Amino acid sequence: MKIGLGCDHGGYNLKLEIKKYLGTKGIECVDFGTNNDTESVDYPIYGQKVAEAVVANEVDYGIVCCGTGIGISLAANKVPGIRCAVVSDTFSAKMSKAHNNANMLSLGERVLGKGLALEIVEAWLNTEFEGDRHLRRVNLLSEIEKKYNK
Ligand code: RB5
Repeated sequence: MKIGLGCDHGGYNLKLEIKKYLGTKGIECVDFGTNNDTESVDYPIYGQKVAEAVVANEVDYGIVCCGTGIGISLAANKVPGIRCAVVSDTFSAKMSKAHNNANMLSLGERVLGKGLALEIVEAWLNTEFEGDRHLRRVNLLSEIEKKYNK
């Protein structure tokens, strides 16, 4: 499995923790930046980079971080085919994969402690999409995209 990582300055330290954690699990990461927490940067740039890598199948999933997880997830969700879930608890992390087939996860460094954030990542990666009626609903999300991306 290959994971694309991205963040702005507000999510940089959490991204590093996630990268380290995934490394200990033997999971390959592609880091799309940013590369420090000292220079203020714009989260849409990094959300878009990771999202485009996911839809191009350069990586299997994306994990992005900013201060709240919100801005960078909004950016990622502008890319057709992306279902990026902002999550702050393990139950939602599991459900975002099981029911929504989220292909990106977004976390807020200013919201979550490292321990919980890594538990969320683990819960998310270890959960499978359940398909069935949930597939119909996920397909309906794609229909909305098609309507507005002619
Ligand atoms: C940056 O200050 C902050 O606005 C950003 O990291 C994120 O929280 C936006 O949603």
